[in-house]
Amino acid sequence: MTLKTKLTYSIIFVFGHVALAQNYEAKVDSLMKLMTLQEKIGQTVMYSGSWDQTGPIVGTDNAKYIREGNMGAMLNAFTVKGTYDLQKVAVEETRLGIPLLFGYDVIHGHRTIFPINLGMAASWDLKMIEESSRISAEEASAEGLHWTFSPMVDIARDPRWGRISEGSGEDVYLASQIAKAYVKGYQGDDLSKHNTILACAKHFVGYGAAQAGRDYHTVNMGEGELRNVYLPPFKAAVDAGVETFMSAFNELNGVPTSGNKFTLRDILQEEWGFKGFVVSDYTSINEMILHGFAKDSTDAARIGMNAGVDMDMMGSVYRKHLKELVEEGKVDEAIVNDACRRILLAKFKLGLFDDPYRYIDEKREAETKYKPEFLSKAREIAAASSVLLQNKNNVLPLSKETKSIAFIGPLVKDEYDILGNWAAKGDRKGKAVSVFEGVLEYLKPNQIMYAKGCDILKDDESGFSEAITISKKADVIVLVMGEGHHMSGEAASRTNLKIPGIQPKLIQKIREANPDKKIILVLMNGRPINLSDEVNLVDAILEVWFPGTMGGAATADILFGAYNPSGKLTVTFPRNVGQVPIYYNMKNTGRPIPDNNPTEDYKSNYIDSPNSPLFVFGHGLSYTTFKYADFTLSSHTLSFSDTLKASVVVSNTGGFDGYEVVQLYIHDKVGSVTRPVKELKGFQKIFLKKGESKTVTFILTAEDLKFYNSEMNYTVEHGEFEIAIAPSSDFKFKNSFILE
Ligand code: GLC
Repeated sequence: MTLKTKLTYSIIFVFGHVALAQNYEAKVDSLMKLMTLQEKIGQTVMYSGSWDQTGPIVGTDNAKYIREGNMGAMLNAFTVKGTYDLQKVAVEETRLGIPLLFGYDVIHGHRTIFPINLGMAASWDLKMIEESSRISAEEASAEGLHWTFSPMVDIARDPRWGRISEGSGEDVYLASQIAKAYVKGYQGDDLSKHNTILACAKHFVGYGAAQAGRDYHTVNMGEGELRNVYLPPFKAAVDAGVETFMSAFNELNGVPTSGNKFTLRDILQEEWGFKGFVVSDYTSINEMILHGFAKDSTDAARIGMNAGVDMDMMGSVYRKHLKELVEEGKVDEAIVNDACRRILLAKFKLGLFDDPYRYIDEKREAETKYKPEFLSKAREIAAASSVLLQNKNNVLPLSKETKSIAFIGPLVKDEYDILGNWAAKGDRKGKAVSVFEGVLEYLKPNQIMYAKGCDILKDDESGFSEAITISKKADVIVLVMGEGHHMSGEAASRTNLKIPGIQPKLIQKIREANPDKKIILVLMNGRPINLSDEVNLVDAILEVWFPGTMGGAATADILFGAYNPSGKLTVTFPRNVGQVPIYYNMKNTGRPIPDNNPTEDYKSNYIDSPNSPLFVFGHGLSYTTFKYADFTLSSHTLSFSDTLKASVVVSNTGGFDGYEVVQLYIHDKVGSVTRPVKELKGFQKIFLKKGESKTVTFILTAEDLKFYNSEMNYTVEHGEFEIAIAPSSDFKFKNSFILE
């Protein structure tokens, strides 16, 4: 460290120690007194390193900008060596030596890759989700990273949208609980520890409601929908102490969310008291020009900073224009100071001013990635995230003594797509365990036959005959098919929800050649798939999503019964794309179709499809069976100051020990605004041995029943509420209570 930097640090140190008794804010203020306007602007600038590409390439001279004090953070730069070289420039070659922040999209693992987030949500296991993000933070921080752009907390109800894969699905309550688990896992209980990293709630806000499920498309919704559906998971992240937010690409009701004062300042800062900083999405500030909301890049910078976007990711507009905007009085310097302060506060909390190299430890880097305990946890989570959608005649689990099993499909031996999208630095060349490799733990080679059959997307049928030939020879057929990892995630919307390519045709041909044989479909995909044909062609369907590094091992554990599947859908699977958007907590309408006459005239239905989905929110089978009985309520009335207990006795009535996700739903029958026909308000994941029973109790308060009414007051209203405890959202209410 040069003498100059030592002097600067001693000034900060002195100020810092003077301020020690106060807090980080005082230290930040001391430092900012030393900074020029351009240096403060420099903190609001973020560029990408070359270790990964997560958006359109924009050529930047990173070392130059760092030396000029024109960069406060980098994305896509990691490894101890890589971050050390860059951090050294910032700390030792700039006037004040302010350290850089290094951020990356570690959203379901850094090296050890867990199932995609939509998959992990299906575990309904908050502890596991927190463990996955804790491991992600261990591996990421061991490679010099301070910050992850996760959790993605966008509610998504349209499977055409590829980014449905990155979130926790359609339900507000569940997505809010999961958001908290991720934040806790990444940030831990002490950000000054070198194995904790900043979390980032993204994409603020409404991104998942993109028109027609087309990525980056227009979003329009009433403020009631915004506050009752799309904002709550972000508020949950704030309540969990999330240190950063990311503004989104989409416009919301005509105002781009990266220039939206209402959401960024009025709600996030004023209403919620958020003290962290907001980073834009990748060039999303500049994109306000294309939105037709900013005249040029100077105007975009003005709008973004004034609206509350503190850091410009890859856009260069803050670096180029903020100084002149302040000098011309178009942006108040106090606003730039506030943005800079928020960013410096995060750096102080991480301990980067005590030691800018504290995340730089080659020994730790070498011994952290892929720790055996990380891989075994990844295997456990992948199994818990899998959802058994169908299991006719209990064809699963398979016996290890099965004489011959034909494994067919483009994803049987896959070690590349299995990691899913946004797999950070997951190794796609040989580290992941394919399904084929996984089943070798259970079967001898002579019990296995294999044929790829076809590709995921190509329409070359030349592999069909080999696949059909081995299918005829086998006792059981296991198909491993689905999407490529690039078919979901960012910029990956689909208008067709079928299994892609000619895979469906191969399934058809294999069934025709084996009319009575057991056929199991293992599905890898990043969104709800239209399985309307497949449910009639195969006996069992196991949804494994993109299950990650240990996915093939976990899949084999389920296929052969070492793990009894317990996952439950957090997104509705439609019968066809025409039903979309379709989700369980919809409104009743004034003409709901009667159960006893689904085709009655002048009702809210289709003339060419049922209203009901193929698989509902909360659906997931087990190898055992569970019985729900003896539902009881502690009272049939609830006062505002009281609590209501709802209980049920759940029994394992089948032949396997297993987990069950017990769900609590309510329905507010009459409101000053219409209320959803069902709302999840609680869940408990329990383990029951064969024959065991357990009483599961939920405690409800009036607070749990609140919603935003037409005046945007967060309130609860007297009246009758239906209530149920069920294994999925597919049930009829039988009980109710009165909120007095
Ligand atoms: C991308 C994504 C965002 C990601 C960011 C940085 O465009 O929208 O989720 O965190 O850029 O890679």
